[in-house]
Amino acid sequence: MSVENAAPTKPHIHIAPSVMCADLCNLEADIRELETAGIDMLHFDLMDAHFVPNMPIGLALIQQSRAKTECAFDIHLMVENNDFFVDAVAEIGVQQIAVHVESATHLDRTLSLIQAHNIKAGAALNPATPLSALDYVLERLDFVLIMTVNPGFAGQKVVPATLRKIAKCRAFLDERGMDLPIEVDGNVSFENIPKMVSAGADILVGGTSSVFHTSGSRAENIQQAQQAIALGLAHREG
Ligand code: DX5
Ligand code: ZN
Repeated sequence: MSVENAAPTKPHIHIAPSVMCADLCNLEADIRELETAGIDMLHFDLMDAHFVPNMPIGLALIQQSRAKTECAFDIHLMVENNDFFVDAVAEIGVQQIAVHVESATHLDRTLSLIQAHNIKAGAALNPATPLSALDYVLERLDFVLIMTVNPGFAGQKVVPATLRKIAKCRAFLDERGMDLPIEVDGNVSFENIPKMVSAGADILVGGTSSVFHTSGSRAENIQQAQQAIALGLAHREG
């Protein structure tokens, strides 16, 4: 079959388990289970208890995890001193870093710093932050992180307006010729995944309402999430 007649390949929707939701007292075993279930990206939430009132994991955990897995590391900074943490995780060896537009005093400079480390740079937007915050950093972006909950804690419920924000973000990027992936983070549940994927999500941060849900094993939950993704893709293709 010639290439032009080949069936269009389905977009690959990444599941990035949120490590702060894992069993942190048995993290190596948890990571093994996730790898066996086909996971190739891990989401690490780095919080400083200032930008958000929480601090679930730190640099040492990311450092020690690096030696245990080949998974891509997806770092979500929720800190005030972004440049310090960018340099610190770059030293450890990570593949992408998202910084909050709300926390970055010099967002363009920080995104440039990430890319100077040859790491993919992302802008993270809180639920209430408009997409126009991306207007003057588009050239510095490798992905966009849409928060579907207010950052800082796992186990929250999706902010309803953010579901339409995902679709708006896809349209916003497409209108500007930016074929960038959209990462979605917060209450990425079995029920919400189809809506999020249908709206345009490409990377799903799996937390307490999917990958780490108490109703099943990691493998069972990932399989259920994959089924929810397929529903969303079918709806996206209409
Ligand atoms: C919250 C973090 C999320 C969180 C997701 O600020 O960015 O990654 O761990 O947890 P759930 O999926 O339970 O909302
Ligand atoms: Zn996160």
